[in-house]
Amino acid sequence: MNRKSKLDFQQKLLKWHFQENKRVLPWKGETQVYKIWLSEIILQQTRTEQGWKYYERFLERFPSVHDLAAASLDEVYKLWEGLGYYNRCRNLHATAQIIVTQYSGVFPADYESLLRLKGIGPYTAAAIASFAFQLPYAVVDGNVYRVLSRYFGIGTPIDTTSGKHQFQTLAQECLSVLEPAAYNQAIMDFGATVCKPDAPLCATCPLQKKCLAFKEKSVTHYPAKSKKVQQKDRWFTFYFLSWKGRYAVRKREQKDVWRSLYEFPSIEWNSEKEWERSQKFKTSTKLSDWLQGVKINNMLSPKVQKLSHQTIRAFAVTATVSNPAHQLKTEWEWKTKAELKAFPFPRILQDFMDIQFTKKG
Ligand code: ADE
Ligand code: SF4
Repeated sequence: MNRKSKLDFQQKLLKWHFQENKRVLPWKGETQVYKIWLSEIILQQTRTEQGWKYYERFLERFPSVHDLAAASLDEVYKLWEGLGYYNRCRNLHATAQIIVTQYSGVFPADYESLLRLKGIGPYTAAAIASFAFQLPYAVVDGNVYRVLSRYFGIGTPIDTTSGKHQFQTLAQECLSVLEPAAYNQAIMDFGATVCKPDAPLCATCPLQKKCLAFKEKSVTHYPAKSKKVQQKDRWFTFYFLSWKGRYAVRKREQKDVWRSLYEFPSIEWNSEKEWERSQKFKTSTKLSDWLQGVKINNMLSPKVQKLSHQTIRAFAVTATVSNPAHQLKTEWEWKTKAELKAFPFPRILQDFMDIQFTKKG
């Protein structure tokens, strides 16, 4: 790759952007830092169509960084519910508060300071710096890895340190210093609509002539990865335990994907076999101390939730408790259905609640 081929890539990409790019997105062309930051945090690891709805909901509820900073963390989580990767939400709220208390409500206007904020890594710092301040920082996200690896025929695995460096450097060399915002938007939109992960539109692609992957007929081999992500399977039973019209819940503090969301009492099984066998029990006395004397009323059919590194399979059980065991009294809060509405739950629990609680009014 010489200088000229990178410049050629950049020019063709910008030409496509200004003449052919039809993608409409609510944050496109936005220059307000708060809105750019919000959209970029929401869009990390989220499909754009899904992110769009959340972006509009957040802006409506929190028109400024001051509104977001002033809200309770639980309320922000509730609005975030369903987006996953809840650390993003925690950092969003923390950063809003830092901007208000330490920066008088004004985001810093340079890359290094942006990078120091919680939840802002190289990608987000580059996006904000370019979109809001026209600073020459190239974004590197999944789209960029895919487009660059294919066009320049680079087989270095993107999940290695050297691969990350190589693509970061190349991305920066291809960037248009005069039009960093347009260039960054262009490569993301191009990756999302033309050089797509599956079935890229090579036949009509304006970059096809010099695209190495196309020439080698090996488009689908890029970007290369050194290892497959190991998927972990987990099996759960959730218990909607009611006592005098209230349900046992608590806030999760474990540092995992569901940290700070609420949960119901549950049992995690070690294998699919155990999980399936447990569905046949009418009483659960043998299963766990806290289930002593619990009367099972009803079982909801199983649901699956796929997360990036694990697949959750769960069924839910409704049960009444006549006299909560000691542990259920001390470690759990008993809340009414109306109170539960305000709490953020993992998606799979919310799905079960929608069935169980709307059915009975
Ligand atoms: N994904 C993350 N940021 C984006 C943006 N600005 N445009 C399109 N897709 C994106
Ligand atoms: Fe991507 Fe195909 Fe265009 Fe190459 S020719 S840049 S692989 S869409």
